[in-house]
Amino acid sequence: MSTDQFGIAARPAESIRSVLAEAQRSLQVVGIEEAALEAVWLLEHVLHVSPLMQRVQAERPVSAVDYANVQELVARRANREPLQYLLGTQEFCGREFRVSSAVLIPRPESALLVQETIRRCRQNPVAMVVDVGTGSGCLAVSVASALPDGRVLAIDISADALAVAQANMEQHGLGARIECVQGDLLTPLAQRGWASQVDVIVSNPPYIADLDLVTLQPEVRCFEPRLALAGGPDGMDVHRRLLQQAPVYLKSKGVLLMEVGLGQAASVCREAEKSGWFRTYDVLRDEGGIDRVVCFEKQEERSKPLIVN
Ligand SMILES: C[S@@+](CC[C@H](N)C(=O)[O-])C[C@H]1O[C@@H](n2cnc3c(N)ncnc32)[C@H](O)[C@@H]1O
Repeated sequence: MSTDQFGIAARPAESIRSVLAEAQRSLQVVGIEEAALEAVWLLEHVLHVSPLMQRVQAERPVSAVDYANVQELVARRANREPLQYLLGTQEFCGREFRVSSAVLIPRPESALLVQETIRRCRQNPVAMVVDVGTGSGCLAVSVASALPDGRVLAIDISADALAVAQANMEQHGLGARIECVQGDLLTPLAQRGWASQVDVIVSNPPYIADLDLVTLQPEVRCFEPRLALAGGPDGMDVHRRLLQQAPVYLKSKGVLLMEVGLGQAASVCREAEKSGWFRTYDVLRDEGGIDRVVCFEKQEERSKPLIVN
């Protein structure tokens, strides 16, 4: 056995097998459901060894530096930091998106917004689309890649989120085709003189009610940006503001598509109809059977606002 200058025996190198087992135990102890899988992905991230090769080369030694890096990531995950922030990536609509703690991790149900935007633009390939609260840019990128002649503007109030969005747009070769702008909801459109110009306004706004924020799982509550989550007392502050602003910028028959939280669809639809500007033409359900996306078409003429309680 080799010893150092003080005669202390060097620790035998860890193997992939032992590092994996230790990582899995550390994650299991704190209740991470997919501990085994997540341990494999964290090792893959640090060692650049695929899950299959981790099994084939289970006895391969792990360097002290790699071992320390795995330990650090495992400790962060055990502290409930989302796996996606540690790996720096999340898949959405068949593409990989960079993510950091500046942006919401894209959720699969938001693909409904992409599908509906593309469906609405099928007859109008040069459509003008605005993504409000772009975050990682996942909606803007997915829409722009399906509409090669469309024009897409992506807005976010957070400069840090926009930096991530811009990186994703460039990574997917769309940096020149999507315009990224920092601003509060649709205010950047006023500076551009886009009144009655827009075909689709699409948004996944923050929609967690203030009192519900504390009930979220720690991965969300402690790590995802509050700006991406908090939607005011009943979670619908941003929906209301968009309902007020959107009629100015939408063409007649243009559409406003918004993601909503559990139990919010009926209220948002009522408010849209009450404004007199919109007709609800659909409410899309996600795979869990939850009404997830409300679809409004701007009326040619503003109807007399309905009195709905
Ligand atoms: C729920 S996240 C959605 C991110 C992304 N579109 C997605 O679907 O994954 C909401 C985003 O809206 C942005 N946001 C919040 N308030 C805003 C405002 N007043 N104006 C513009 N963006 C806002 C947040 O910074 C955040 O990136």
